[in-house]
Amino acid sequence: METRILPVSDENVELAAGLLKKGEIVAIPTETVYGLAGNGLSPSSVKKIFDAKGRPNDNPLILHISKTEQLYEYAKEVPKLALKLAERFWAGSLTMIMPKKNTVPYETSGGLDTVAFRMPDNRFTLKLIDLCGFPLAAPSANLSGLPSPTCAEHVYSDMNGKIPLILDGGACSCGLESTVVAFTEKGVKILRPGGVTPEMLSEFCCVEIDSAVTEGLKADAAALSPGMKYKHYSPKAEVYMIECEDDRCFREYVNENSDDGTYVLTDDGAGMTAKTLFYGSTGEREAAELFSALRRADELGADRIYVKAPEKNGIGLAVYNRLIRAAAFKVIKL
Ligand code: TXA
Ligand code: MG
Repeated sequence: METRILPVSDENVELAAGLLKKGEIVAIPTETVYGLAGNGLSPSSVKKIFDAKGRPNDNPLILHISKTEQLYEYAKEVPKLALKLAERFWAGSLTMIMPKKNTVPYETSGGLDTVAFRMPDNRFTLKLIDLCGFPLAAPSANLSGLPSPTCAEHVYSDMNGKIPLILDGGACSCGLESTVVAFTEKGVKILRPGGVTPEMLSEFCCVEIDSAVTEGLKADAAALSPGMKYKHYSPKAEVYMIECEDDRCFREYVNENSDDGTYVLTDDGAGMTAKTLFYGSTGEREAAELFSALRRADELGADRIYVKAPEKNGIGLAVYNRLIRAAAFKVIKL
């Protein structure tokens, strides 16, 4: 199959809607990462998504909607808090899990009785959902296990020949996947941190952070979010996260422990003898550039990557969560 990349526009959104209505799958831009979209109500379209990604079929997909009222068509119960959070954070990078109605096939929810909802912050993608008249199931548009795509070229490198169309909306502004929350008695539990931070959510309710966000899943624990049990965000190179007090001790460590295949992700390569890949100067920039930097390291043939552990607050928590998974929990404490 030929895979076309077309700039996102009113005309090309109509073309994409035509393909989606025929049951095809299409890559779409969002503010977080690119999604691989199909009709979320059609088991055969959803199967195409799982096949193209090589995704285990018990890992549920997010339904992307364009209007909050659509929740009532697909969720059995819509918590009051969900409406408050939707009003504040939608369209945006917050995904909320609710009990599902039978209108949502089990193929979409990975066999679960719940389903996740998000309204992406991209006016063309919202228009696409309107034109389709059904919610779009869309996981990140990468091959399962690889870093999520933050530009159309990343999608092309993973999906070339597997899908008919990539809508190119440029680089994703957030660069990490959405914050995923489940509802608790008093508020929400964050299952995956993202651009909507714990601090932002705590203005509205009690916020718990699932231990798997920073520690990984204990061997015998059930995954609240099935995605957490799979290897994730991994480049081919071995990633090591370095926890240390200051830049000087980080620099000394990498200088003493680097060889030809070693790259360091940093915004300041001064005084470093290892090869550096620029990433981030603020938490927001780190989030936006992380997946690109990991893909770039693979292109350059890196066999080891060092990166300093970010602070676990604000968007830093999301960066930490992706990095520790990319590192397969290899943390060096200095
Ligand atoms: O920003 C995003 O969320 C992107 C864009 C394309 O919208 N999508 C995305 O989808 O990251 P995906 O499938 O790559 O990640 C969704 C995560 C997975 O870890 C999945 O296990 C979890 O959300 N999830 C989805 N539905 C769930 C449910 N009903 N219960 C628990 N976890 C769920
Ligand atoms: Mg994903």
